[in-house]
Amino acid sequence: MSTAKKDYKRVTVKSLVEMKANGEKISMLTAYDYTMAKIVDGAGVDVILVGDSASNVMAGHETTLPITLDQMIYHASSVIRAIDRALIVVDIPFGSYQSDPKEALRSAIRIMKESGGHAVKMEGGKEIKESIKRILNAGIPVMGHLGLTPQSIYKFGTYTVRAKEEEEAQKLKEDALMLEKIGCFAIVLEKVPAKLAKEVADSLTIPIIGIGAGNGVDGQVLVTHDMLGMTHEFNPRFLRRYLDLYTDMTNAFKKYVTDVKAVDFPNDDEQY
Ligand code: KIV
Repeated sequence: MSTAKKDYKRVTVKSLVEMKANGEKISMLTAYDYTMAKIVDGAGVDVILVGDSASNVMAGHETTLPITLDQMIYHASSVIRAIDRALIVVDIPFGSYQSDPKEALRSAIRIMKESGGHAVKMEGGKEIKESIKRILNAGIPVMGHLGLTPQSIYKFGTYTVRAKEEEEAQKLKEDALMLEKIGCFAIVLEKVPAKLAKEVADSLTIPIIGIGAGNGVDGQVLVTHDMLGMTHEFNPRFLRRYLDLYTDMTNAFKKYVTDVKAVDFPNDDEQY
């Protein structure tokens, strides 16, 4: 059952800020292809993230680092063709914005022009402030991403909870405030203590979308393939699996093999 407070025919960056002001939680999921995006959008999910997690989920890489700008644009343009309602946010991949603000703007413009995405997402705080400002000045909406930032995994060394210590928590709060001040429309907070995430959400007017950040924030995001139970090897505490598609799909494929081998498929009704 939907608990939407207002019927948004098209979700915009403004709608998200309005949802927060009205106390309506924001739903966000990933998609990387047309077919999945069509189902996610049709189900009424507010925001679809074309995440660089495509690097793991679609391509089988261990990290998000290898995915290229061209590959992100390919995924995003497939998603865009599917949607009627959701806001589409596209990750700017590692290596396409860290060196300088001009490169960051060029990458963001390519995403907007070539994929038709509605906004970009970037990982980091004050280190990338100038790049975010340059992109915002060009009229491109930016979603921030703080806490566990997978593009910096080799700096952290592990995927454990971030900002448990006071110093890191303080920097995260300062970064979040800075992102709001310069004009980001929302921030993803990944794998941080729930108490800290709520404190950040309560102190800002832009929405905080959490993943492993508790329920005191303004919305939630999950990787679609994880919440559908298609991936078995990834088991973080924050993940709720709504289906066990890994098992269901395996059983369907096995049945197909059996049917083909037994000449049970196709039957008389399934041929011309
Ligand atoms: O790439 C991604 O899927 C993400 C989410 C985990 C927030 O950034």
